[in-house]
Amino acid sequence: MRDFVYESPTRIVFGRGKELQTGQEIAARGASKVLLHYGSGSIKAIGLYDRVVKSLKESGIPFVELGGAVPNPRLSLVHEAIDLCRREKVDFILAVGGGSVIDSAKAVAVGVPYDGDVWDFFDKGVVPKEALPVGAILTLSATGSETSPASVITKEEGWLKHALHSDLIRPAFAILNPELTTTLPPYQTAAGGVDIMAHLMERYFTNTTAVDLTNRLIEGTLQTVIKFLPIALKEPDNYDARAEIMWASTIAHNGILDTGRVGDWASHRIEHEIGAIYDVAHGAGLAVVFPAWMKFVYRHDIPRFVRFFHRVWGLEPDFWNPEATVLKGISVMEDYFRSLGMPVTLEELGVPDDRLEEMAEKTNWNGPVGQFVPITSDKALEILKLCK
Ligand code: NZQ
Ligand code: ZN
Repeated sequence: MRDFVYESPTRIVFGRGKELQTGQEIAARGASKVLLHYGSGSIKAIGLYDRVVKSLKESGIPFVELGGAVPNPRLSLVHEAIDLCRREKVDFILAVGGGSVIDSAKAVAVGVPYDGDVWDFFDKGVVPKEALPVGAILTLSATGSETSPASVITKEEGWLKHALHSDLIRPAFAILNPELTTTLPPYQTAAGGVDIMAHLMERYFTNTTAVDLTNRLIEGTLQTVIKFLPIALKEPDNYDARAEIMWASTIAHNGILDTGRVGDWASHRIEHEIGAIYDVAHGAGLAVVFPAWMKFVYRHDIPRFVRFFHRVWGLEPDFWNPEATVLKGISVMEDYFRSLGMPVTLEELGVPDDRLEEMAEKTNWNGPVGQFVPITSDKALEILKLCK
């Protein structure tokens, strides 16, 4: 196990109706004016907007608002929001939505106090020194952005999708009400679930040894997600299933499962390039890329893959032919993704195969990706070809 420092400063407020505490949470942090940031309207359709506004008004918190954060959120809206915050002297950003809204809010938070272009943090390795505080009300269990130190933004010019990592952008609080996810279209529930699984698997496939505790925590969290996703799809109003999945989304990506180990993340980097160009749902892209990545790298550590498919997916290991166990496991996982209504090929994802080289090149804009097996752009191309 490696040495580590672990700190997860986000206050979690979990349960039914907790969005009604939003005003209190913000007031406790001494904010004087809030930017209420959201997406394309689902929060109004589900009545959440009205409840949040009521809570802000009851706590006497002035706010301005900006909707329009789209899936694979765009830099141009971040710029617009930064201008608005400066004009209106906003000192707290409230994100109400899924990962895209929260990521957009985090980018705004580092952009407001910065003299240069906020894209510098995503593209040039400039390290942010300050940020406005962010609060999140989560409506989609998926990315873990509600507690993560990451923001992923797409620059329209050149369709570049890059991430910023900084502890400064971990939200101050996250309101997690599983009821808010009952209105999700099945495709988004499933894509969100695959994203949670991918965050767990990115961490599981590591070269770090002697990490039994985190191995088992990851295996257990995966089993919970695998069990409850089909239930949530069959019974969208099942609170307990939604609650298990929502808490798993946070646990999977708040850093606790990184402690003492180094994760991989090549599949994410490859998927981000698909999302940047074709605007696919992130989790759906991962359902295609992750099995292909596994097919490409499993020989690097066959025992780890056998253990994974045995402990998480219940496969009996074939001791005479461990490779066969791995290949069987990958196909069981693909069948599971299909059963959720997820694609497992680029064609099923609606992505043509004429820009694979470009996507593979872009994965390496900052050097090879992946810690378990370093993936250069030629290897990324092989993986993308395995997605067919
Ligand atoms: O735009 P609105 O109206 O909000 O509708 C959204 C959107 O169309 C809708 N939706 C959300 N909650 C709903 C709802 N519809 C009905 N009822 C609800 N309760 O769902 C659609 C997708 O939302 P989005 O926020 O895009 O999805 P997700 O949460 O999967 O976020 C994906 C983005 O997060 C990034 C991804 O790359 C992608 O850009 N990620 C961020 C991470 C992080 N910051 O730590 C880590 C992840 O690995 C990921 O890369
Ligand atoms: Zn993800």
